[in-house]
Amino acid sequence: MPPQHNVKHIKIAIVGAGSVGVTTAYALLLNGLAAEIVLIDIDKNRALGEVMDLSHAAHFAQARVRAGEYEDCAGSAAVIITAGVNQKPGQTRLDLVKTNYALFQDVVPKIAQHAPDTILVVATNPVDVLTHAAHQLSGFPVERVLGSGTAMDTTRFRHELGKYFGVNPRNVHAVIVGEHGDSQLAVWSLATISGMRLKDYCQQKGVEFSEAAMEECSKRTKEAAYEIIRRKGKTNYGVASVLVSILEPIITDADAIMTVSRVGTYGGVEDVALSMPCKLNRHGAHQDVPLLLSKSEQEALRQSALSIKEVLSSLTAS
Ligand SMILES: NC(=O)c1ccc[n+]([C@@H]2O[C@H](COP(=O)([O-])OP(=O)(O)OC[C@H]3O[C@@H](n4cnc5c(N)ncnc54)[C@H](O)[C@@H]3O)[C@@H](O)[C@H]2O)c1
Repeated sequence: MPPQHNVKHIKIAIVGAGSVGVTTAYALLLNGLAAEIVLIDIDKNRALGEVMDLSHAAHFAQARVRAGEYEDCAGSAAVIITAGVNQKPGQTRLDLVKTNYALFQDVVPKIAQHAPDTILVVATNPVDVLTHAAHQLSGFPVERVLGSGTAMDTTRFRHELGKYFGVNPRNVHAVIVGEHGDSQLAVWSLATISGMRLKDYCQQKGVEFSEAAMEECSKRTKEAAYEIIRRKGKTNYGVASVLVSILEPIITDADAIMTVSRVGTYGGVEDVALSMPCKLNRHGAHQDVPLLLSKSEQEALRQSALSIKEVLSSLTAS
């Protein structure tokens, strides 16, 4: 797809040239969203090998890809953090927290030192806890530190609903909010197709609305990563595409609304990061109007915020 905007001076740095980082670099290249992509990894040899391979793809995409150090983050429109250990089969995202928090204590201050005006986009899990950590460790304003959060889950949810209702997922308006993890919630009260609530859509179509089928869609959404990891050991294509779809409105200043993780107050719980719809533009992620959640959804959001907060507290206590 040819770029519709001027990306001549856009530089994106990716910290972590592992599976997610490299797939994201490749997706960025194919989308023509950056003129320069810098890969930074503690394993310099791995980063160099990936850069050699990617630069042959870059030949067709007219972008420059190179391996770099933290000083090469300078001037980046965004720095994506994908460095860190990955989930093993059976592990939750929260199991990774101690190792990846220590890694963030090392890398985030270096990024902030060399790229004080950039936007940090966190993908490393547990993404909500680490988005909060990146905000604290960088000293950046909240809108310039965001996590991919439930943008991935919202994509999976629309995919499931689109498949069930037989419509293109882009025409399903439904979001997953809260933790990118087990306490996430599907906002059923606001889900629409063709501007109609799901029950009304079914009624107009003359088919029965099935609560059980809806529950199955949200269950498959929540369990998708576990199943993919059980089968292939990691997830990379979905998250890379989601990261690019988060970067696009930042690069093009598009005011697009996506569910990304950001520090704020949610369900009355202060100073915690989780995902709600945010407006994305060149200044970062901005909370738009609050969602009109039902009473039970408000309570589920509060529980999600509390479960993330509990992990945050255990980190600062240890
Ligand atoms: N947010 C999401 O939706 C999502 C989806 C998939 C994976 N993830 C997360 O992304 C992270 C990376 O996953 P992956 O599959 O790419 O793992 P990976 O093992 O393939 O890559 C991780 C990379 O980080 C590098 N690294 C480790 N310590 C570093 C440091 N101190 N500085 C710089 N680089 C360092 C490693 O050398 C490696 O290249 C994991 O935490 C994983 O859980 C998030």
